[in-house]
Amino acid sequence: MKATARANANIALVKYWGKRNKKLILPYNSSISMTCDGLFTITTVEFSDKYNRDIIVINDEELKVEEDKSSSPTFADARVVDELRSSLPFAVARVKDEKDVLGHLERIRQTAGIKEKVKVVSQSNFPVAAGLASSASGLAAITAAAAKAAGSNLDQKELSILARQGSGSACRSIFGGFVEWLRGEKEDGSDSYAVQIAPPEHWLEFRLIVTILSEEKKKVGSRAGMAQTVETCPYYENWLKTVNQDLEIIRKGILNKDFTSVGSRAEHNCLKMHALMITTSPAIIYWRPETLKIVQNILGWREGGLECYFTIDAGPQVKIICLEKDVPELKKRLQALKDVKKIIVCRPGEGTKLIDEHLF
Ligand code: PMV
Repeated sequence: MKATARANANIALVKYWGKRNKKLILPYNSSISMTCDGLFTITTVEFSDKYNRDIIVINDEELKVEEDKSSSPTFADARVVDELRSSLPFAVARVKDEKDVLGHLERIRQTAGIKEKVKVVSQSNFPVAAGLASSASGLAAITAAAAKAAGSNLDQKELSILARQGSGSACRSIFGGFVEWLRGEKEDGSDSYAVQIAPPEHWLEFRLIVTILSEEKKKVGSRAGMAQTVETCPYYENWLKTVNQDLEIIRKGILNKDFTSVGSRAEHNCLKMHALMITTSPAIIYWRPETLKIVQNILGWREGGLECYFTIDAGPQVKIICLEKDVPELKKRLQALKDVKKIIVCRPGEGTKLIDEHLF
């Protein structure tokens, strides 16, 4: 059967950083994000006897996959992986380990008890190698399309659990609007999934402006960066103790539409995560000079009465948290800065949906 899904990316207001179980992707802390309507991936998946090998095409590039004797499939050779890393836009370059797409499809095949080969075509509207939010939309779309195509009728909670195992933050993209990924307590991960705090309609004025500052490929992916932080950052345990308060404030702020409280706490939470990264051995510094320039501009604009905040993920791009009424002024100011290569304005978007328009 063939199925197609459309998934939006999400940007965290309370960041997830660190896994207590790397295989199942179980986090040390819960996190909160907004699903963004401006950044999406559409993926069509078909399992069928007519394919004699797995075919995976991401943003017009075919992954070169060869059958492997071991349990998880591998790429033809390391050179191909390197080429993919440097040439592919979002999905594969951001999946951290290219085996993940294949490993994830294998997981879905096993869950459904099927053996057919698969064809996957995935397209996202992300700017090339932008180092954006995460692989969230890519893995959420592939999970929903593949589960449906494999004949598994999963509800949103089950899809979220499955997507989580492909890429942690993908579990949040299953839901629209404002979303919390509950860290869960159980060893098997059955209570670590996302839930909706509020639908997109709840706070239609809320905006995240994504600025693309650098398209250079980052050196440390989030998977390796998190592991390194948990192992070597002397502040990690103390950081964890502060996250619950951030969660409470932002959850409550979203429900009360208290912009100052959500924006200021999200900015603080982001700075705390970057403080961890910077104090990891060896140091992980995702910021570039352009990043800091935008940050300083934002602080200045705010002092001048334009209320906006920033958040930054595992890359150099700055995302500005603001309200709809201030978007025109912020766009004008951002466009005047030479470091800003592109601006994408995101509203609260819907969760992952199955659609009828197949890509093949
Ligand atoms: O799920 P991953 O591996 O893409 O990691 C996401 C990490 C951050 O974007 C920095 C934080 C988050 O919660 O999205």
